[in-house]
Amino acid sequence: MSIAETIDIPARAPLVPPAPPRAPENMGPFGRMALMRKSAIDTWGQRAYEDDIVKGRFFGHASFILNAPDDIRHVLVDNYENYTRTPAGIRVLRPMLGEGLLLAEGRAWKHQRRTLAPAFTPRAVSTLIPHMLSAIDETVAELHKVQGTVDLREVMQRMTLEIAGRTMFSTGMARHGRALRDFVIDYGMNLARPHFLDLLLPLGWPTPQDISRHFFRKRWTRFVAMLIAERRAAGKLEGAPPRDLFDLMVAARDPETNDAFSDAQLGDQVATMILAGHETTATALFWALYLLALDPETQDRVAAEAHAAGDGAGFEALKFTRAVIDETMRLYPPAFLIARAAAGPDSLGGEAVVKNDVILIAPWLLHRHERLWEQPNAFMPDRFMPGAPAPDRYAYLPFGVGARVCIGAHFALVEATLALAKLVGAFRVELDEIEPVLPIGIVTTQPDRSPKFRISRR
Ligand code: HEM
Repeated sequence: MSIAETIDIPARAPLVPPAPPRAPENMGPFGRMALMRKSAIDTWGQRAYEDDIVKGRFFGHASFILNAPDDIRHVLVDNYENYTRTPAGIRVLRPMLGEGLLLAEGRAWKHQRRTLAPAFTPRAVSTLIPHMLSAIDETVAELHKVQGTVDLREVMQRMTLEIAGRTMFSTGMARHGRALRDFVIDYGMNLARPHFLDLLLPLGWPTPQDISRHFFRKRWTRFVAMLIAERRAAGKLEGAPPRDLFDLMVAARDPETNDAFSDAQLGDQVATMILAGHETTATALFWALYLLALDPETQDRVAAEAHAAGDGAGFEALKFTRAVIDETMRLYPPAFLIARAAAGPDSLGGEAVVKNDVILIAPWLLHRHERLWEQPNAFMPDRFMPGAPAPDRYAYLPFGVGARVCIGAHFALVEATLALAKLVGAFRVELDEIEPVLPIGIVTTQPDRSPKFRISRR
């Protein structure tokens, strides 16, 4: 039994953290487009938080926002082969992720998924925990030196990138971390934001942004190839067990064909894992720290659990910390939108779907849906504690569900839980400002600015 389960929790009104206002229902396509470039979350009106299905138009195609668990199961599980990544999603993500697992489709995806799966089992992830802990401990040591205020968002981004680097290559990111972060930030600020033509034109027609993306991709693949060449030069001891994700991916063979990844495929997988993994986890940790700064009592419960569990605390012992991560990802799901394009006709909630219709399953909406959750906008980690009624499997989707569920979900949960326990166990975290921080939905659920935090030793 964890310490949190034994603590007597006083009844009090739960925290309701800030959220953006809901959009007017009757907005025209151009107003919606302008808002979408700023934040897709800002384009959703009240109906999207109440109805099972919201039908609209999206650049010449019908669009459906799905909130009914049965319809979501239909699209992501029962008939998933009829639903592919959207052209806009591919356009925006391919320059960084190439043909890696996140964007692959059909046979190529099946081959990659079954080849990579063994590298992400709980057992394989447990071999990577020492890499995670070394980067977390170094971050805590660095934070002990902070005087005055600190930008915890930037610290979380550096820490998760460091973890991605060490778990991937066994080496720190001291030399290349800065350049890698610059690539990611530069892309996120500019080329990841869809323009009007990105949404309007079919994939085969390059938009002006695509030309810039093409040149970006050339620089990026050169950079990733350099990282891989350095890692290969560091070699692997003959007969030694794999020590990092790179070793696991090099050793991976398709269980049916016995094929290994080619160098180009390996580059795209490395890019996919680093990018899909680090920004999402940094975002989850940022919002967890923000919520805990707004809710000191809950923060104290996390600290008490971390202290009771001790220095060598395993992930399984940190039940309340894990519940805080789960609840954070309910309120601020790092992947706020799962989008699909229909490959052929179907029917959803009594509505006919035709080829190229757009299906939007938005964890942001689903997790705050008025009919699926009690007090949907309140921060209540106890709803995820053992013994509490489990949420509907199709109403809580921080990692998606079905065949394309996040392959790194266990990795991310272990990383985020251990990091939060260590950070909050070491420091009391407070905000140095009172202005609300709001989410911006562009690829991930980023904060609209990096607030200043104050930390003090516990
Ligand atoms: C808190 C952290 C994370 C969140 C919230 C998250 C969320 C998601 C979601 C929602 C999907 C499904 C997308 C869809 O169905 O369209 C996904 C897929 C994926 N994630 Fe994660 N992820 C996280 C961490 C990671 C990590 C640590 C890795 C790798 C080390 C990773 C690698 C991937 C990959 C490769 C896919 C594509 C899987 C496929 O299509 O077969 N993610 N992630």
